[in-house]
Amino acid sequence: MTRFTVNNQPVEYKLDPQTPLLWALRDASNLTGTKYGCGTGDCGACTVDIDGAAVRSCQVTIAAVEGTFVTTIEGLAQENNHPVQQALIAENIVQCGYCIPGVVMAAAALLRKNRNPSDEDIAGAITNLCRCGIYPRLSEAISRAAR
Ligand code: FES
Repeated sequence: MTRFTVNNQPVEYKLDPQTPLLWALRDASNLTGTKYGCGTGDCGACTVDIDGAAVRSCQVTIAAVEGTFVTTIEGLAQENNHPVQQALIAENIVQCGYCIPGVVMAAAALLRKNRNPSDEDIAGAITNLCRCGIYPRLSEAISRAAR
């Protein structure tokens, strides 16, 4: 049995402790906002928050997060009203949307640590891949969210 907290709710998984967190969230908890992109830690589609840090959930096992506080896109804010989400909407940058939950989680973690990130800070923290190529406008949206 592996126990931790997801979106402020205690969870117990009777899964192989080596199960990637991504699949526990998606398959056992039906939290499908966390996306599978590559499975190798490269794309960031699976980004969640673990104890305040943006983490690629395909790369950590549920055993590794025992006792932690995990937040997914579903638990980040009520009614999608996190400043990052509001900025993405205001800047109208979302295209296919597949990468967006991971981008939002990474940006929210950045802004918690750095309320006034430079373009370089954003580029260093948001390494998520986006096939639609939203990168220039994404940086502007995250700067807007910081204001
Ligand atoms: Fe985890 Fe791509 S699915 S980084």
